Amino acid sequence: MEIIQGSIENLEEIVKLNQKIFQGMYENPPYSLEHYKEKLSDKKPLIYLARDNKQIIGNSIAFEKSDSFYIWILGVDKKYRRQGIADNFLQNTEDFARVNGFELVTTKVYEVSNDMQKLLLKRDYKITGIDLAHSTEGNNAIGFELEI
Ligand SMILES: CC(C)(COP(=O)(O)OP(=O)(O)OC[C@H]1O[C@@H](n2cnc3c(N)ncnc32)[C@H](O)[C@@H]1OP(=O)(O)O)[C@@H](O)C(=O)NCCC(=O)NCCS
Repeated sequence: MEIIQGSIENLEEIVKLNQKIFQGMYENPPYSLEHYKEKLSDKKPLIYLARDNKQIIGNSIAFEKSDSFYIWILGVDKKYRRQGIADNFLQNTEDFARVNGFELVTTKVYEVSNDMQKLLLKRDYKITGIDLAHSTEGNNAIGFELEI
């Protein structure tokens, strides 16, 4: 298993993995490849990938958003969880943000993503509030931030 930096060229494979990871998790279906492309079209995303035997089994996507570095996507294949992969992605992303002059890393997590919330709290992220603009019926979007 290795962790490497990815790029937009990996999007197709990333989306296939994420459709599996996020299937049935939220009210809305997982994002399509078109959605990823459109969302990232005006950004310089920082992408990390975990690969096992060439196959992508985890990914994170982050980018600059109103003066902070924002983690948009984080997902690890079920079979590979609790091995520190997401922890490694976050460490790398926070280091990149710090070196590039950012003072805050932020993210948004839906209430149903319990594991993600535990991971963020363990890494000392603080809850900044409920983001009503991104909450869906019965599923609040919780804002988190880490001062770096
Ligand atoms: C959230 C997610 C990315 C975590 O990935 P992961 O690689 O398993 O996480 P790590 O192994 O790096 O976990 C690091 C720490 O986070 C906490 N943690 C992670 N998963 C946890 C769980 N299921 N229960 C309790 N604590 C957990 C633990 O403190 C863990 O450290 P430890 O294993 O030494 O106790 C993964 O569970 C996932 O893909 N979930 C589905 C998609 C999702 O919810 N993504 C976030 C949406 S924004």
